[in-house]
Amino acid sequence: MTDHILVERQGAIQIIRMNRPDKKNALTRAMYAKMSAALVEGDADPAVRVHVFLGVPGAFSSGNDLADFMVVATGGEGGTEVWDFLMALARAEKPIVSGVDGIAVGIGTTLNLHCDLTFATPRTVFRTPFVDLGLVPEAGSSLLAPQVLGRQGAFALLGLGEGFSAERAKAAGLIYEVVAEEALEASVLAAAAQIAAKPPQALKIARDLMRGSREDLVARIGEESAHFREQLKSDEARAALTAFMTRKKA
Ligand code: COA
Repeated sequence: MTDHILVERQGAIQIIRMNRPDKKNALTRAMYAKMSAALVEGDADPAVRVHVFLGVPGAFSSGNDLADFMVVATGGEGGTEVWDFLMALARAEKPIVSGVDGIAVGIGTTLNLHCDLTFATPRTVFRTPFVDLGLVPEAGSSLLAPQVLGRQGAFALLGLGEGFSAERAKAAGLIYEVVAEEALEASVLAAAAQIAAKPPQALKIARDLMRGSREDLVARIGEESAHFREQLKSDEARAALTAFMTRKKA
């Protein structure tokens, strides 16, 4: 079976690569579990100084696997993998850099709100169609997006589900830099190497100060998750998910 999450080390840099190109990197429970484990293990290992998230050419991630959502929407079990990942992300002790090319939907966008530096290519569009799916913002995005984008920018992203081009995302402060597709990985790794070369203790304190209370973030993720689980079972969500699942058969 293909490994949908590839974890590798380059010196002090831990690279977590989403690798399910045929589904545009839709994230399954197993993929979340592997990413959580990498974050937790990397945080615990003094040899790792920075985490990196990458996708495949043209797709950072199309978000949670909608088939998994459908399981819950029709009365099945959702598991704890998504929750564990969000906790690992919110509690990550080391800086995170992401490189986004192309599709960045749902968690493919909100993951970046937890990153310290995000690079994206000109063809990237960030989109969070939670409300259109009958769902609500997740991953702490209802707290983090207004901080980054202001209330109206956050509403455009999370309420209206507007797409944010890389250029718009940069102007709005959602990402650090726009770079050409062929320069993405090198730019991300160069930034990660720069981070890895900093005095780790001073950097950790600086980062913690800039981030503020993790507990507020964790509490918000809990609040969002409770609503999310409820909404997944709603008629609104079931209708939107069914429309997506049956779309390709048409
Ligand atoms: N969950 C499950 N499967 C997904 C998926 C997702 N989130 N996103 C894409 N896929 C699958 C498609 O069903 C398709 O599978 P198939 O080849 O077996 O039919 C394959 O990935 C390729 O997707 P496709 O829609 O053909 O590619 P595209 O480039 O035309 O469009 C997207 C890409 C991401 C815009 C579109 O697939 C989409 O809107 N996906 C849903 C995104 C979403 O709502 N995510 C959840 C956010 S909370």
